Amino acid sequence: MTASGINEATLRRLRPDFLWGAATAAYQVEGAVAEDGRGTSIWDTFSHTPGRTLNGDTGDLAADHYHRYPEDIELMASHGMGAYRFSIAWPRIVPDGAGAVNQRGLDHYSRLVDALLDRGVEPMATLFHWDLPQALEERGGWYARDTAHRFADYAEIVLAALGDRVPKWLTLNEPWTVVGQGYSRGVHAPGHRDYHTAGTAIHHLLLGHGEALARFRAIEAEGAEMGITLSMALPRPWSRRPADVAAARLLDGEQNRVYLDPLFRGSYPPDLAELFPTLFDDAIVRPGDLTVISEPIDYLGVNYYLNHLVAADPAVPVLGARQIHPEGPMMSAGIAAVPEGIRECLVRIRDEYRDLPLYVTEMGASLHDYVDPTGRVRDTARIDYLRTTVESISNAVADGVDVRGLYVWSLLDNLEWELGYSIRFGLFFVDYGTQRRIPKDSARWYRSLISEHAELTRDRADRGPSW
Ligand code: FCB
Repeated sequence: MTASGINEATLRRLRPDFLWGAATAAYQVEGAVAEDGRGTSIWDTFSHTPGRTLNGDTGDLAADHYHRYPEDIELMASHGMGAYRFSIAWPRIVPDGAGAVNQRGLDHYSRLVDALLDRGVEPMATLFHWDLPQALEERGGWYARDTAHRFADYAEIVLAALGDRVPKWLTLNEPWTVVGQGYSRGVHAPGHRDYHTAGTAIHHLLLGHGEALARFRAIEAEGAEMGITLSMALPRPWSRRPADVAAARLLDGEQNRVYLDPLFRGSYPPDLAELFPTLFDDAIVRPGDLTVISEPIDYLGVNYYLNHLVAADPAVPVLGARQIHPEGPMMSAGIAAVPEGIRECLVRIRDEYRDLPLYVTEMGASLHDYVDPTGRVRDTARIDYLRTTVESISNAVADGVDVRGLYVWSLLDNLEWELGYSIRFGLFFVDYGTQRRIPKDSARWYRSLISEHAELTRDRADRGPSW
């Protein structure tokens, strides 16, 4: 047994160049919301609206990563991490969503990327992690087809500036969360509560993805690749009753298939016609759109948190289904900790959709961490969670799935959207009062895991790329 507690054969199975990284998102960590010409995003508006976030928390200061990124990169490098997934804030680049480009915003990310490369940390940039420019929201947000075109314009600007140095790109982060939480259930920005029209937002997000990908292909950034990150959920029926089975199937459609099918098969699932009627309306989904959306991506990013049982419940409006958390360990915020589920998600992509390179672009555990009197953060439950995560990814590799990296959510404690700063996901504890970073036990554990894996796969790495 190794120091990480993962057996050697399990670790050896992961490719020598498997990327071990961590992830963040701009609004959750950057702060500096009024600096260097940044425009307003829907999350500024939402978090400043009373009652929308827990305790009225906002990202105004967050983890101050905008200023402290050199120190944060140092933490990654000194803990052996070879990759960093961050997001670019659209309102820093095109403050009004369309028109004038803000060079100071581009310069910031250019410095960040150079600093990463200097320390041997490979950047992976997400173009949209939910911070839509407020000006575009006022013109309809993702209900408006024009937003997809504006997204492609913004993507092209960023790609022209950074495409030569950033090898991995993601267009969107978790369109399901944008729509499911922001357009259907109303708990995320922009706060709409309307399933009936949510399909329109789904389609425009995916169209934006497809158009951004087309611009990327046209630029021919050498050595760079592009994909999209989806959140994969595992809804299972509560019982074998046909009503529960149908309810679970509906949630699987709403959370997984409505994104996977158009991306990989070029069509929307017909069984969702009642839930998302606009996805079957020719005025919204125009000829050729699905061809743009289904252009092959270079890899898929998978985020996984949600594992639930689903029971039919006519009292629940629209979906007629209730989610029940399975028994087992719970993380704070009621997120069930079932990291084993990642294996099934990864295998499913290969079996039902396409055999393509996969990156786990987020998995992580939320806890109520604290610094104990000896100055340590003993986050044993997070270490257990991550150990199982790595074992489950390795099991998927044993099943023949091409998994190439893991980006732990998250590098730092940060603003957990509507839950504010109430829960912590970081490998590094952030003392928000002083902005001091404290490596949690999990950060040290991650470092030992990374070096063990390097040690165990050294022979194969030396043999070069033909292993
Ligand atoms: C994901 C988000 C990420 C973070 C984690 C906990 O859905 O992509 O920003 O909030 O959940």
